[in-house]
Amino acid sequence: MKKKALEIKLQRLQGFTNPKANLEQYLTPANIAAEILFFAHQMGDIEGKIIADMGSGPGIFSIGACYFNPAKIYAVEIDGDAIEDLKRNIASVRCEKIEIVSEDVKNFRVPVDTIFQNTPFGAQVRHNDLPFLETALRISKVIYTLHNWETRDFLMGKIRELGGRITHVREFQFQIPRIYKFHTKERVTRKFVFFRIEKDGDKLK
Ligand SMILES: C[S@@+](CC[C@H](N)C(=O)[O-])C[C@H]1O[C@@H](n2cnc3c(N)ncnc32)[C@H](O)[C@@H]1O
Repeated sequence: MKKKALEIKLQRLQGFTNPKANLEQYLTPANIAAEILFFAHQMGDIEGKIIADMGSGPGIFSIGACYFNPAKIYAVEIDGDAIEDLKRNIASVRCEKIEIVSEDVKNFRVPVDTIFQNTPFGAQVRHNDLPFLETALRISKVIYTLHNWETRDFLMGKIRELGGRITHVREFQFQIPRIYKFHTKERVTRKFVFFRIEKDGDKLK
């Protein structure tokens, strides 16, 4: 699968039909999800691996990962409406490796090889992304994670404190549509920091 072909497939997925501001529900754009997934594939972090897509929403990372022959994918999501969107998307691509887990990420305790997550940006509740990071560093050997750019220094310290090793850092920018009343412009551009993190498998708790 070429990166552009993956992007086109991901563009066809349905988004949130009932987005909720308190859960910071916005989508990772298809080109950025394809970029991250393709990179993870090249790093050997998808094929034959157990994956978790934390805060999966309609499932762009779960479904994208499906094209690279993983052993299994857990799509963990707290919101029932988003899970309905996810189910429709899974049905449209017929990926049988995805298991939907309807719960708060902080209660998910299954050991996995690789995590993908676009965490809540923290615009509603500061450091809303920390439960995602803490859980990921507890259960996964490798983590691909997106966060609010402004908090990168704090996050780097936190990742080290939690026993993670950052192998790659990158900046991404993307627009978030005006889906919430408090946004005054049609679209707002936000800057994100992306980390690839490794954790020694023996230290998973
Ligand atoms: C920024 S959106 C990302 C959605 C999707 N992963 C993507 O990249 O397009 C964050 C997602 O995390 C979910 N979420 C927020 N807090 C959560 C929690 N504590 N446990 C599980 N899911 C949560 C939201 O409902 C939302 O679907």
